[in-house]
Amino acid sequence: MKNIALLASGSGSNVENIIRYFRNDANLNFPLIISNKQDAYVHERAEKLHIPSFFYKRDSFENGEVLAFLLENKIDCIVLAGFLLKIPLNIIQAYPDKIINIHPALLPEFGGKGMYGSRVHEAVVANKKSESGITIHYVNENYDEGQIIFQARCKVLPTDTPEDVAAKVHELEYRYFPEIIKATFLPDTEPDKAPKRTRLPAQ
Ligand code: GRF
Repeated sequence: MKNIALLASGSGSNVENIIRYFRNDANLNFPLIISNKQDAYVHERAEKLHIPSFFYKRDSFENGEVLAFLLENKIDCIVLAGFLLKIPLNIIQAYPDKIINIHPALLPEFGGKGMYGSRVHEAVVANKKSESGITIHYVNENYDEGQIIFQARCKVLPTDTPEDVAAKVHELEYRYFPEIIKATFLPDTEPDKAPKRTRLPAQ
């Protein structure tokens, strides 16, 4: 059994999807949610899902308080699902190759500091891209630069608004993120069902 902490700064629809997906899974446990925003909607979702959620401000991530909390709770791995703070070195060093993030575009394009949420989809549309997608990657000390684990693509039509792109990307996130979490942190279970770590063709 592995204990995975979910970190989110916003709405938390991915958090909810992950928790529902793994609800009856005997191998992966999601005992807690952490947010750096006290008023994030993810706290309300957590309450409805009966999962404890905690607020820690930026300083607590940097001064070791959050790390101590993770260790106390026997957290093995960390999943960032719309988490906007940079993960400080103290946590990265304590969890080597044990932290993954989802980015709502095809990295290395449209990544880096300031590239989050609707800004990503606005940039994709402004640059007249014909496709976008998701990237799930390991987290290192630089924003969006850790090793890529998985990407999936969607088409972007010339008439698509940033909201249209966001909806397509969210669909990919709900479809693939739980499976990739499982394949990454429990690579030996159900090998037939584990998605391959390759790029999928555009859909
Ligand atoms: C997702 O698009 C994710 O890729 C990005 O932030 C968004 C979070 O959405 N990092 P939600 O809070 O899960 O609805």
